[in-house]
Amino acid sequence: MQAAVAQAESGGLHLNLIPAAPGELLSQAASAAAVRAEQAGVAVRVHAAPGLPAVRLDRDRFAQVLGNLLDNAIRHTPSDGQITLSAEPGREGVRFVVADTGQGIPPEHLPHLFERFYRVDTARGRTQGGSGVGLAIAKALVQAHGGRISAHSEGPGRGAQFVIEIPPA
Ligand SMILES: Nc1ncnc2c1ncn2[C@@H]1O[C@H](COP(=O)(O)OP(=O)(O)OP(=O)(O)O)[C@@H](O)[C@H]1O
Ligand SMILES: [Mg+2]
Repeated sequence: MQAAVAQAESGGLHLNLIPAAPGELLSQAASAAAVRAEQAGVAVRVHAAPGLPAVRLDRDRFAQVLGNLLDNAIRHTPSDGQITLSAEPGREGVRFVVADTGQGIPPEHLPHLFERFYRVDTARGRTQGGSGVGLAIAKALVQAHGGRISAHSEGPGRGAQFVIEIPPA
């Protein structure tokens, strides 16, 4: 895992850049997470705005980014909650959003989430929490694509949103 972050952060990644339809990327990520979401009693919906341009990215790496965000969203959303994967026009390029209706994130933690090994609730065991590298890897992979990732939450109990901006192809 640590090697994965280091490799992604060092920029020593070979990206296989291919044009892809944003909605298709989201649908594939949703299918890949469907069993885990169902086990957690969390619904996953996908919404892609019509007429979005294609994005040029490495499908496997981008799937890993969405997979890490979905994994977190499922883990932090109680049953009967909902996760929405959406794609919409960005300021430039395309904006992808992974939003959940889960436990949310206290504002003081938001600036640190993408640091390696950072976890909000360190009291949680490894079954509830992981090792704190998923978002560091996601950030490094998004940046390797020339994009940006940010975290938002109105606070505890108000859900969380992760926004990825991918530049135009
Ligand atoms: N959707 C979310 N809702 C609430 N908290 C979140 C969400 N996503 C991430 N977090 C918080 O951010 C922390 C860091 O996330 P990250 O994915 O980097 O690590 P992790 O999930 O704990 O472990 P790993 O991804 O390595 O298995 C999490 O431990 C959790 O506290
Ligand atoms: Mg994680």
